[in-house]
Amino acid sequence: MDAISKASKSATLTIGNESWDLPVMAGTIGPDVIDIGKLYGQTGMFTYDPGFTSTASCESQITYIDGDAGVLLYRGYPIEQLAENGDFLETCYLLLYGELPTAAQKADFDFRVTRHTMVHEQMSRFFHGFRRDAHPMAVMVASVGALSAFYHDSTDISDPQQRMIASIRMIAKMPTLAAMAYKYTIGQPFVYPQNDLDYASNFLRMCFSVPCETYKANPVLARAIDRIFTLHADHEQNASTSTVRLAGSSGANPFACIAAGIACLWGPAHGGANEAALKMLGEIGSVDRIPEFIKRAKDKNDPFRLMGFGHRVYKNYDPRAKIMQKTCHEVLGELGIKDDPLLDIAVELERIALQDEYFVDRKLYPNIDFYSGITLRALGFPTSMFTVLFAVARTVGWIGQWKEMIEDPGQRIGRPRQLYTGATERDYVPIARRK
Ligand code: ACO
Repeated sequence: MDAISKASKSATLTIGNESWDLPVMAGTIGPDVIDIGKLYGQTGMFTYDPGFTSTASCESQITYIDGDAGVLLYRGYPIEQLAENGDFLETCYLLLYGELPTAAQKADFDFRVTRHTMVHEQMSRFFHGFRRDAHPMAVMVASVGALSAFYHDSTDISDPQQRMIASIRMIAKMPTLAAMAYKYTIGQPFVYPQNDLDYASNFLRMCFSVPCETYKANPVLARAIDRIFTLHADHEQNASTSTVRLAGSSGANPFACIAAGIACLWGPAHGGANEAALKMLGEIGSVDRIPEFIKRAKDKNDPFRLMGFGHRVYKNYDPRAKIMQKTCHEVLGELGIKDDPLLDIAVELERIALQDEYFVDRKLYPNIDFYSGITLRALGFPTSMFTVLFAVARTVGWIGQWKEMIEDPGQRIGRPRQLYTGATERDYVPIARRK
């Protein structure tokens, strides 16, 4: 990695009568970090940080978030500028290579991604082993993991060429697999990719066309999907990305690592939140019931939380949520949906929550998932597909972070330690003598 993070000052740790100097490393922006890599060797102690709220797990040059200011940068570029001016594949190139592409580089990258969109024909047989009512995320975890059984020529992680081919394959094939997962659950035939279409239009076509009718993707809706992909492309060391890095740190192949990331993303506290947010809006049902739900969200004895609100990192308005809100209005406008009761509830809920002392004090703002569910539903996706779309978009972030880790000469297997509070050593008791 770059020499940027050389120790510039030190911190002193004092325990009882003893003190240790710990190096402090500085990044290009953001908080400094205390290097505790040698702490155990020096003190015989570990640090304790469940949920990693104060722990930097790695050095990275890909994505920067300032959660207090509501800033998200990919390779230094603000998310607003990328979402407004570029397209998703340009963002993929930026995340993977570190710079925006020239026109020639962009054309070459688009060509390479496009030429990898088909999946091995045998994969369709694999799909047919699932129940039709399987959750598409279950199908994605399995089918992406299964790619390692199909593409042996790109699983040697020590070969930079193979690493790049695996990365391109993953970005290219995820929409195809996602569309197949959707088609399978609704009992329609799989639609092959069409390589003269852009990434988003191709995805919409694979999801929504049928062999008996011609299909033309609506450019406004394709642009919206493309922007949703850009907004979700990376988010530094979130739970699923950390999962991918941890899985990859053992030397596992990239397809297996991304499958692990998809499994992590599935949870409602992470990628499942947009599905949960939409379900919650449906459960609220009407604007006049909002106060009842706000009251429940504030009640410590009630496990209910306002889904789509709050974020581990953003203690300000999630910058992606603003673009998502705008995209939501554009999609509904294009589709001529004048009155969407769920949108009315969302707008009012946001208005009330942003004024409510409980939410203001805890800095709980709408996150990206708050408006993405309404948008995706209007685009025609069932709620079970929402997290799948997130996985399609986040694949480039996962693979970019995985590559960065593999290419870091200082990379070691990830192995956290623990504070053990279980039984101390005791002798085995034969079953006949146990009470
Ligand atoms: N509704 C009501 N109260 C909330 C909410 C919420 N959505 N989120 C946090 N709080 C409260 C907590 O009860 C806690 O209150 P307390 O200090 O009085 O005990 C306080 O705010 C801090 O909450 P934590 O759980 O400690 O915050 P954490 O950073 O661990 O959690 C998380 C972040 C998981 C996103 C949380 O805000 C949440 O569950 N939100 C709803 C789910 C959601 O929208 N997830 C999407 C995340 S974005 C993404 O993955 C793309």
